Amino acid sequence: MNPPDPIPTRITAMLGIRYPIVVAPMFLVSTPELLLAVAEAGAIAVIPSLNFRTHAGFAAFLEAFPDRPFGVNLILKENPRLEEDLDAVVRRRVPLVVTSLGDPGPVVERVKAYGGRVFADVVGLRHAKKAAERGVDALVAVACGAGGHAGTVSPFVLAPWLAEATGLPVIAAGGLATGRQLLAALALADAGYFGTRFIATPESGADDAYHRMLVEATPEDVVYTAEVTGVPANFLAPSLAGFRRGAKPWKEVRSAGHGVALIRQVAPARELVWRIAGEYHRAKAGLP
Ligand SMILES: Cc1cc2nc3c(=O)[nH]c(=O)nc-3n(C[C@H](O)[C@H](O)[C@H](O)COP(=O)(O)O)c2cc1C
Repeated sequence: MNPPDPIPTRITAMLGIRYPIVVAPMFLVSTPELLLAVAEAGAIAVIPSLNFRTHAGFAAFLEAFPDRPFGVNLILKENPRLEEDLDAVVRRRVPLVVTSLGDPGPVVERVKAYGGRVFADVVGLRHAKKAAERGVDALVAVACGAGGHAGTVSPFVLAPWLAEATGLPVIAAGGLATGRQLLAALALADAGYFGTRFIATPESGADDAYHRMLVEATPEDVVYTAEVTGVPANFLAPSLAGFRRGAKPWKEVRSAGHGVALIRQVAPARELVWRIAGEYHRAKAGLP
């Protein structure tokens, strides 16, 4: 399979990538193998620093990762490792940092000093404006239906709303799984943020049971609740049942967004990036 033609946007120019596909950071799911496969396909993937159980493990990953586009997600709130993980990010000059849950100001200052880029993930206008004031390079607009901690605003509204209010490039997040959806997203934003779809790859940290659940689930199996982490997030109902009975800890609860509707199979990440880009081009050519 040859790589599809590039899809240039403000975000691909900013990050030096071929496709405006940002594979979202996912706790316990993103892996260095996934990051590498996505980078080799011409897109970029982001990993939470907390996917490494210790700071030393995170620092060792940063040392070993090749000179390719990749990003690190830093949780800004109630994260005792934030300072040392940020120090390591600065030392390694990580090309992209995505912040969540808090004030990105201090991160922006240090990452921009070495020429890195900072995106803030937000669910509404209040945080978007604050992040814009702090000087982030772009906003991740996390709409309703997203996997993990999702917002409540429709993706049709959130991305153009934040773009209009801040003038910043926006990455649309929530429910994206196909190239046709990426095409729709690029009518409203500068890139697509794909989480749930990339859980169903052999490179992700998800096990076979999780993969099967994703392929079988419909959006009606996705439950939006704050009961697992204290912040409203989307979970697969079958995995929530054990947690609710007290039989299973939160680590056994599996998160996913509405995009499960469009996941038919597990596919290698590089193939998936190319499939999404190819679908994008075909869907674009077929628009009325
Ligand atoms: C299993 C899972 C774990 C996640 N963990 C994180 C995380 O650690 N940090 C974060 O910023 N977002 C996290 N998210 C949210 C994603 O980064 C992203 O916003 C979301 O997956 C996009 O929506 P989609 O899943 O519909 O594509 C997680 C999402 C999932 C599905």
